[in-house]
Amino acid sequence: MSSEEVKVNTQTPTVVASQTDALLELRNVTKTFGGLTAVSKVDLIVRPREIVSVIGPNGAGKTTVFNLITGIYEPSSGEVLMAGRSMVGLSPDKIVLQGITRTFQNIRLFNNMTVLENVLVGQHTRLKATVLGSLFRTPRVVQEERMARERAIELLGFFGTGLVARQDEYVMNLSYADRRRVEIARALAADPKLLLLDEPTAGMNEAETLEAVKYIRRLRDELGLTILLIEHKLAVTMGMSDHIAVLDYGQKIADGLPDEVRYDERVIAAYLGRQSETKADDTDESDDDAV
Ligand SMILES: Nc1ncnc2c1ncn2[C@@H]1O[C@H](COP(=O)(O)OP(=O)(O)O)[C@@H](O)[C@H]1O
Ligand SMILES: [Mg+2]
Repeated sequence: MSSEEVKVNTQTPTVVASQTDALLELRNVTKTFGGLTAVSKVDLIVRPREIVSVIGPNGAGKTTVFNLITGIYEPSSGEVLMAGRSMVGLSPDKIVLQGITRTFQNIRLFNNMTVLENVLVGQHTRLKATVLGSLFRTPRVVQEERMARERAIELLGFFGTGLVARQDEYVMNLSYADRRRVEIARALAADPKLLLLDEPTAGMNEAETLEAVKYIRRLRDELGLTILLIEHKLAVTMGMSDHIAVLDYGQKIADGLPDEVRYDERVIAAYLGRQSETKADDTDESDDDAV
């Protein structure tokens, strides 16, 4: 009996005792690239159904944190836990199956595919059809495809009727704001619990930004998602975050309620001191290409 227990344990991700009710937890996470410490001893807790923001000047390590959570990079040290289970060492595909999906600072869609096809791509980790089944188009495959399309259309419908009507258009013909929406729909297609949004309003004008704020709130309120986002527009972050973590040179220098962070001296110094590098007020589309 004990040998059976051991066998089970080796197949399950490590369970690390957690004193919190966190959905996502980073513990003392560090990532170095050669001599550069991009992320330094960062702790972060995201509880179910929270909207949490990560802010900080350009190069502070925000996107690297997302890459560590989604398995693109492995931490040099520290732990990344989802619902108390370590995700360190899991491939990005496996992490999607743990319920984490994301969008990118620079939109990553297949421009030569249609809106609907792009959303279908987001479901690929969930589809069960085999290669042979797909070749011979067995009833099961046909059924699975039909359901996948229905689901994709339903997800586009989250953003109103506009994208549903444009489902067969090539993504490259959409407005910038619509492409951001399609990218979120694709992330939703994998059925996440936790959605990571890397600068979801970058490149948007004020009206589009307000619209984005509304649907980010609806993602939490209507779909029950937990959201971690990187955001450069401070007004956006302050208005919708349960708490805000501030990074500067890879270190977390503050974490608290919007009002606590707003008046924190270290935060003010980090922003003012590097004002010329930040994009806090930019609504220019081109800034999204700065990685
Ligand atoms: N793959 C990489 N190789 C080397 N340096 C990297 C890599 N990814 C990020 N960095 C560096 O890590 C730091 C943090 O980058 P990043 O996480 O993109 O910052 P932010 O998203 O806050 O603007 C920067 O100095 C960046 O140049
Ligand atoms: Mg970034």
